[in-house]
Amino acid sequence: MQVTTVKTHAFTDQRPGTAGLRRKVSVFRQAHYLENFLQCVLHEADLPADARIVIGGDGRFFNDAAIRTAIAVLAGNGIRDIIVGHNGLLSTPAASHLIRASGAAGGLLFTASHNPAGPEGDFGIKYNTASGGQAPESLTERIHRRSLTISEYRIAQLPELPLARIGQHEIDGLRLQVVDPVDDYATLMQGLFDFDRISALLRGGRFRLCFDAMNAVTGPYARRILERTLGAPPGSVVRAEPLADFGGLHPDPNPVDAADLVDLMAGSEAPDFAAASDGDGDRNMILGRGCMVHPCDSLAVLAALHGHIPGYRGGLAGVARSMPTSRAIDRVAAAQGIDCHVTPTGWRFFCNLLEADMITLCGEESFGTSSSHAREKDGLWAVLFWLDLLAATGESVSALLSAHWRTFGRDHYLRQDYFIADTDQAQALVDGLSHACREMPGAWRKAGVRAASEFDYTDPVDGSQSCAQGIEVHVGADARIVFRLSGTGTQGATLRVYLERATQDAALIPQPSQSVVEPLARLARELSRIEYFTRLTRPSYSI
Ligand code: G1P
Ligand code: ZN
Repeated sequence: MQVTTVKTHAFTDQRPGTAGLRRKVSVFRQAHYLENFLQCVLHEADLPADARIVIGGDGRFFNDAAIRTAIAVLAGNGIRDIIVGHNGLLSTPAASHLIRASGAAGGLLFTASHNPAGPEGDFGIKYNTASGGQAPESLTERIHRRSLTISEYRIAQLPELPLARIGQHEIDGLRLQVVDPVDDYATLMQGLFDFDRISALLRGGRFRLCFDAMNAVTGPYARRILERTLGAPPGSVVRAEPLADFGGLHPDPNPVDAADLVDLMAGSEAPDFAAASDGDGDRNMILGRGCMVHPCDSLAVLAALHGHIPGYRGGLAGVARSMPTSRAIDRVAAAQGIDCHVTPTGWRFFCNLLEADMITLCGEESFGTSSSHAREKDGLWAVLFWLDLLAATGESVSALLSAHWRTFGRDHYLRQDYFIADTDQAQALVDGLSHACREMPGAWRKAGVRAASEFDYTDPVDGSQSCAQGIEVHVGADARIVFRLSGTGTQGATLRVYLERATQDAALIPQPSQSVVEPLARLARELSRIEYFTRLTRPSYSI
């Protein structure tokens, strides 16, 4: 194998964010950009010479070219044992599982999640460690530091790689295994859920479901598992073909980007159950006839009813949520006498807790839920969990949700995003809030502000600290406002404002109730002086 050392120059913008390095495709296509980053990952990950690496992506534009480059850089650095998904496809949860199941030393995941794809769209890369989880902050920071001084990388000259042919290939000293992306994942799911019971529910045509893969990576997974294995009628999975540009969609399963599905479930022809997943298959949205299950509630319901599910009958070690996620799960944990950990935003913060067996279920308000079966969030897993619950209880989605609220109370929840073109203004706004925390309860007492603080986190497993992870303002006895800047965007800044009020309200009204959250939204605008800093008078996006 011929290996070349290529002289390069450093890029200053290779600091990974909440979920890896995300940039415009045009940025990734610059000469040396991807190679540099990969070389820095390899330097810092410090892999043994016989390391096995798993590679896959969500199939978006540039996936194939990036994967070929990655294999060449890995081979150039002496890594000769590579597992790759057929045609470069692997959903994020399936990749996480495959890393663990194959004893790999790590994995490279090519995805920008739900961000738009295509030549003008976004691209991304994540490095996951042997646990199957995303690289911790300490490692991504080292990778970033190295990216600022890199001057050369090593790359192998390889022939055309057979990514479309499943099987084991020996190529010039490189062992390349091209695997079916669904096989191992489907087996994992079969071990967690009662497939016979779900199958009895889905076969026979009385129960109808619609799964929207949004032209992204979960199509092949959902078709195989829901239709072929479990017997949902063909056509139950829609937009099932992964497309390089996601068909122009923004494949994010939420009521704005998957509005069609919400409309379908509100109409007279609504099936019994609907769900959607995102670009790389780690997010989920669950809907019943006439209702959407907010992800904060979904996590709480799954925790409350886990005893029905074979894979979780042994009980939950504990649960976790990201800080901005509603406190619905906290009440379930308290009732079950287990710990509820609160982490910064981003799945990687759950990984140590999962590895240490301190938690079994975890989730985020951003339509992400998962368990100790993987080290990433998992869209289809959540769908199967809900289907298994419906099969076990014989109840509808809305009946389970109302019963949950009756027992545990209900949180009205809304996230408002403000797209701010000028990142300095966005930072100034957040800095202003963080400086004002101490005076806030005094200055805003009349408005009900009870406490305000910046969220700093110390990982209970390794003691690592992550500071300034958002600002939390407590209002009255039962409400909360959280402010933070997004870490996944590729342009400008996004201020996320999370509004939440716990109530005893169990009526199934469209969520969230405007009369409950609007006063909080007003207070949030006043506290943060959004209009002063950004001239924005209303959120760009509310979900
Ligand atoms: C967003 C979500 C966060 C999620 C991440 C990756 O990050 O808020 O919960 O883990 O995407 O899917 P943010 O853009 O807010 O930093
Ligand atoms: Zn995703």
